[in-house]
Amino acid sequence: MCGIVGYVGEKNAQDFLISGLKRLEYRGYDSAGIVTIKDAGGEKGEATLIRAKGKISNLEEKLAKNKREDKIGIGHTRWATHGEPSETNAHPHQAGYIYLVHNGIIENYKELKEHLTEHEFKSETDSEVLAALINSFYKDGKYSLTDAVVQALKLAKGTYGIAAVSVLNPAEIVVARSGSPLVIGVGHDETLIASDASALVGHTKRAIYLNDGEVATVTRNSIEIKTLNAEPVSAKVEEIETNLAAIQKGGYEHFLLKEIMEQPNSLAETLRGRVNVAEGSVRLGGPGLTETELRNIRHLLIVGCGTAYHAGLLAGYYIEQFTPEITVETVIASEYRYRQAYIPRDSVALIVSQSGETADTLACLREIKKQGIRTIGIVNAIGSTIAREVDGGTYVHVGPEISVASTKAFTSQAIAMVMFGLTIAQAKGVKSSILRPYVNEIAKLPEAISATLKEVEEPVKEIAAKYCKYEHAIYLGRDTAYPTAMEGALKLKEISYVDANAYAFGELKHGPLALVDDRFFELALVPKGELYDKVVSNIQEVLARGGHIVAVTNNLGFDLDVENVVKITTNIEIFAPILMNLVSQLFAYYMTTAKGLNVDQPRNLAKSVTVE
Ligand code: G6P
Repeated sequence: MCGIVGYVGEKNAQDFLISGLKRLEYRGYDSAGIVTIKDAGGEKGEATLIRAKGKISNLEEKLAKNKREDKIGIGHTRWATHGEPSETNAHPHQAGYIYLVHNGIIENYKELKEHLTEHEFKSETDSEVLAALINSFYKDGKYSLTDAVVQALKLAKGTYGIAAVSVLNPAEIVVARSGSPLVIGVGHDETLIASDASALVGHTKRAIYLNDGEVATVTRNSIEIKTLNAEPVSAKVEEIETNLAAIQKGGYEHFLLKEIMEQPNSLAETLRGRVNVAEGSVRLGGPGLTETELRNIRHLLIVGCGTAYHAGLLAGYYIEQFTPEITVETVIASEYRYRQAYIPRDSVALIVSQSGETADTLACLREIKKQGIRTIGIVNAIGSTIAREVDGGTYVHVGPEISVASTKAFTSQAIAMVMFGLTIAQAKGVKSSILRPYVNEIAKLPEAISATLKEVEEPVKEIAAKYCKYEHAIYLGRDTAYPTAMEGALKLKEISYVDANAYAFGELKHGPLALVDDRFFELALVPKGELYDKVVSNIQEVLARGGHIVAVTNNLGFDLDVENVVKITTNIEIFAPILMNLVSQLFAYYMTTAKGLNVDQPRNLAKSVTVE
């Protein structure tokens, strides 16, 4: 979603702003802009504002004709909420002396706008209203830029991460956050601003993560933070762990393929130090629950959006298999936050989020905490808001996930949650003969993922190319393969724009079977196990109605006359759906490349959904 960058220092601000915005491209955006200010020595600096609709490359083309040596500036990638993607609606927005970039939504912007009669509005955005509001306090010299920002934010309702500069003082940037992340990079004779630490990688390793309700005034060699109520805040400088290689394509054509292929390593990182095969046990330090607390858990509430939600659904199926006296409920955050749901006292909530910034998931976390329920984060982004606000947590450690469609995070989120379930089962005294097979397979998964990726990539590539004319797809599975089918269908629709939906095989007869015709193909997940024969019968029913089936199975004896079969030959059984999901990921990837679409930045979507 929207991205913010800022620079004040000794170097060329335009250079950092453009490179920073490029780093944030992966989050999804539809226009971009930067403003830099030249300290002309007089009363007022000279601002250069450049904005463009579409890709950063469009902005760069304009920039080539407007090269400046300015040492201060702010920039933005916009993902439209109020007003269409256009140059006028792109940030930075100007009001009088100030320029502003804003992530988030100002909910009471209409009401505020009515009082801002002196400003001539050019855009349709809520952000320009905030810019005008800040300037209304600033313009007469009564308030400093920081104080004007504070006054304005006290009146604004909604969410924001902002950066503001003034032509009257081309030496400082004022930033503030409430619900939308902001990081300050501490450099040598320079200070950098970004909404995502990946923009700072390679420039500095030292960062200050701003908290909600804080405002910072930064110059090239000072950072002063206070709350909106003027209480001083002593900043904690943290280390940025990400390195450059982690945010580059490393020889792959797309981040998505790189991230799919990274899964043997990324899952190994999730497991590192947490699995003891000799003992048949797992250990997670982060959640911070005592054995007694674990034993007393009766109810697990799992909250997430998109892929994180699917990972939670899948983990729930597993946890129920081996944990006695426990119910698992996996919910979509955007729904749950407005439900009047009662949460039993003996519950623990797992808050699942790759980015750690998803607005709906964060809102649920806060609601659930208010009810006094213990919250555990299953998060990837270190230092993210959710990671900081949960009571305890398990980082999945998959490294930066750049492609909008989530792949490696899914695998690790699901397994991390299963491991959390195992720690509960261990505390409840479940026999090791029941838990050991899960632990053994988890330990073997990275290698099995590696073998499966090698085994299926070529066949899947060929099959996907054959199906790329279809506009409709049905993904099918039962039991643990059902949430896996949901995730597979999501991948396909996200990046290839195929209308793909998942159904539980058993539900076919209750409606979806009516869809089967030549416009649809069906991707069927067919793991070995108790329900295998039933699934085979379900497939027969689809075949009898002229279905176009691609079956994915680890049963080497599978001999139904379907159009295509992808076989997985590793000896993983319990977690076979995790391997089948690799097929779905590759299928979506190769279908999308065959159609010539933008794999890493699908239309209309954003990586981190920081607005409701
Ligand atoms: C967006 C992304 C998805 C992701 C979802 C939840 O929709 O495009 O890939 O699954 O948000 O994101 P989170 O960061 O909370 O896991």
